[in-house]
Order: sequence, then C-alpha cells, then structure tokens
Amino acid sequence: MKNFKANMFNKKASDPKNKPDQILETLALQPGQTIADIGSGGGYFSLRFADAVGRQGKVYAIDTNPEFLEFISSIAKEKGLDTVETIIATENNLSLPERSLDLIFIRNVYHHLSNRVKYFKNLAGALKPEGKVIIIDYTGSGFFSFHRMFGHCTPKETIVEEMEKARYELVQEYDILQEQYFLIFTLKK
Ligand SMILES: C[S@@+](CC[C@H](N)C(=O)[O-])C[C@H]1O[C@@H](n2cnc3c(N)ncnc32)[C@H](O)[C@@H]1O
Repeated sequence: MKNFKANMFNKKASDPKNKPDQILETLALQPGQTIADIGSGGGYFSLRFADAVGRQGKVYAIDTNPEFLEFISSIAKEKGLDTVETIIATENNLSLPERSLDLIFIRNVYHHLSNRVKYFKNLAGALKPEGKVIIIDYTGSGFFSFHRMFGHCTPKETIVEEMEKARYELVQEYDILQEQYFLIFTLKK
C-alpha cells in the first residue's frame, strides 16, 4: 500500500540522525508491555514497539488520519504483527481501556494537540499506576528554525506546566536528540 506522507514520516523517524535506536534503548521496553503510540503517522515506532513487546504485548497505533492507520495495518499484516491495533482518534478525544498502558509515546505530536491539559487528564485513566508518558517534541531553538517558524514546537516550560496541571510530573529528561526534548512523565502520586 502506498502513502507518500506516511512513508516520509517513516523515513524521517528512521533516519540515524534522529536516533531511533537510542530512543528505543532508552525506553528499555519489556516483552508483554502495552504501548499507545499517539499520532503514529507512518507507524515506524509502533512497528518497532510491536517487535520489542513481542506476542504477549500490545501496541495501539493511534492517529486522526485513517489513511495512515490503513498504511500501518497493511505493514503489520505483512510482518505478521497481529499485536498492533489501530485506533482512529478525534482531535481532542481518545478512548482506551482503563489502566492498560505501560507507556504512552507521543513524538512530534504534542504541538498539534489543542486542549492538552484536558487531553492528558482524560488519558490518565488509561495509564497503569506506574505507567510513563514519553513526550518528544521540537524545541524550535536555533537562529533559523523551520519548526519555530511554522509553530511545530512547544517550549519545555509549557509542556511541564500543562502536564502538571493534568496531574503528571516530570521524572526524567534525556539530552540525546539534536532538535527535540525527550521528556518522561508519570502520574503524580
Ligand atoms: C509529525 S507526525 C509524527 C508521526 C510519528 N509520531 C513519528 O514520530 O514519525 C504527526 C502525526 O500526528 C497526527 N495527529 C495530529 N493531531 C492528532 C491528534 N489530535 N490525535 C492523534 N494524532 C494526531 C497526524 O495525523 C500525524 O500522523
């Protein structure tokens, strides 16, 4: 199945300069885990997560664009990855099974969401008590930033403030990506 944009997302996600292997290493996924890849695009990460969590695990590839989801389903089918389930999301809402997720992964999507505090408050019920939310988003820093010019970035202070309002806390931060923050949140105790 062809989809130019989905392929383009995957090409960028898999580019070694964007450190996909290091991102996966850092997440240290375990067999049997359940992961939601929100704004899954072409599914590069969803499919790698499915490999990592194995047959006992589960990956929800979630997007507002049904064509991207069809694209992901067709690749998952080709690879025999029947643990990948696609879910169509609306702009502000998403329904997932209660306390089911070990990890919510949201890469280059945070800046697309409109009411983020409400969005993450709603998602809290789907996260296991020790579950993590991984937010990777563009910093928009640098003298000439395409991402800043087009509003495809979110200041770190904004992410932290909004996530705190949604009752999450920043527990870890990795400085391994050139153009993006890599932030890990958990539910506030
Ligand atoms: C820049 S792409 C990132 C794709 C993928 N996360 C990656 O890292 O390759 C942004 C994706 O987010 C999706 N998206 C935008 N708003 C969304 C929303 N409210 N809920 C879920 N997905 C959304 C878009 O359709 C698109 O696939």
